[in-house]
Amino acid sequence: MKILSIETSCDESALTILECGGTLTEPTFTILADSVSSQIAIHAEYGGVFPKLAKREHGKALTPLLLETLTKAGMHIKTDAPYLFDTHILDREIELQSAFTELTYIQKPDIDYIAVTSGPGLEPALWVGISFAKALGTMWNIPVLPVNHMEGHIVSGLLPLKDTNGILTGTSITYPAIALLISGGHTELIHIKAPLVYTKIGQTRDDAVGEAFDKVARTLGIPYPGGPVISKLAHMAREENIQLEEKFTRPMLHTNDYDFSFSGLKTKVLYFVRDLQELTEEYKKKIAREFEDAVTEVLVIKTMKAVEDTGAQTVLVGGGVSANTNIKQALQNACLKHGIPLHFPRPDTATDNALMIGMAAYMRIQNGAIFPDIESIQANGNWSVDEI
Ligand code: KG4
Ligand code: ZN
Repeated sequence: MKILSIETSCDESALTILECGGTLTEPTFTILADSVSSQIAIHAEYGGVFPKLAKREHGKALTPLLLETLTKAGMHIKTDAPYLFDTHILDREIELQSAFTELTYIQKPDIDYIAVTSGPGLEPALWVGISFAKALGTMWNIPVLPVNHMEGHIVSGLLPLKDTNGILTGTSITYPAIALLISGGHTELIHIKAPLVYTKIGQTRDDAVGEAFDKVARTLGIPYPGGPVISKLAHMAREENIQLEEKFTRPMLHTNDYDFSFSGLKTKVLYFVRDLQELTEEYKKKIAREFEDAVTEVLVIKTMKAVEDTGAQTVLVGGGVSANTNIKQALQNACLKHGIPLHFPRPDTATDNALMIGMAAYMRIQNGAIFPDIESIQANGNWSVDEI
């Protein structure tokens, strides 16, 4: 089965064509083509992702990206007579409209299903991917499946995958499991009772972890997205054995729930920097370390509390912040102590990507997913994994 997946929920336009096989619990994937166009440089000027700009850039990027993806997969075959489709689908997508005509001259590729991220995320950005999927689906008569972005991140945690001659085999895990999803937009703890059965048991009450990293970076004069730089500075402080005398309060560490809050910690850094005479390079490293330690401690303690309370047998981590080595190391230590396995996505699938959307779609299809009428597919910026 071949799936074309489309991801436009934030600042990456990404497309993947996957050849899928195997079962729901031990799926196999061969990447036939994978293309990404990142808007990070464009949003850096604004210090964060600007929804209207994201929408415009996705609209410009998707058609050339699909042509590139089809070429990579050996599916870029031209036809003389253009395909017809209901052009009203693209009424609200000015940027898509102009470039899309070129696609009507491409022969229907050997693709069985189209999977598109329909939420959660920035709605104007999600709509571009959805309209694109609808136009392709009606033009080529291919069913379209809406996919939850967070489920994609969960599934990507199953992708430490054995890689045998380019065939990626998903790990069969023991349930129940706990997934910790940490990205620029989300911080969630999910209880997974069985494959594809989710309950969100905790989340951030304000900023997401990645957002807090990025805002602290901004306070230290580091451009968006500053998370990876903060992590590097913190690492340098540990190497040089330097640290702040003051310890930042670990937010909500001992509350009797699985919720998080990072906005107070971010504000603490802001006041700390404001009260400094000079923000030296040494201070930047020490602040980064203390901030990262505080975040790590809270994430680990809450995740392990969830593990203990639910009797989870496996921990999965997903989202862009899972690339953070300090958090990874601390979770590894904690899971080792509990004697349970921990799965992280491969570094190239930690941040937003279309591979995880195709993988989630395949697992849903194996689970008997019902395909909606293409016209009825909508963006849902707050689509929770409980509601899939
Ligand atoms: O999952 P993702 O690519 O996009 C969202 O769906 O939000 O996550 C991006 C976030 C950004 O906030 C970025 O600063 C953060 O992940 N990030 C990191 C690291 N690498 C990426 N934060 C801390 N340490 C890192 N190494
Ligand atoms: Zn994401």
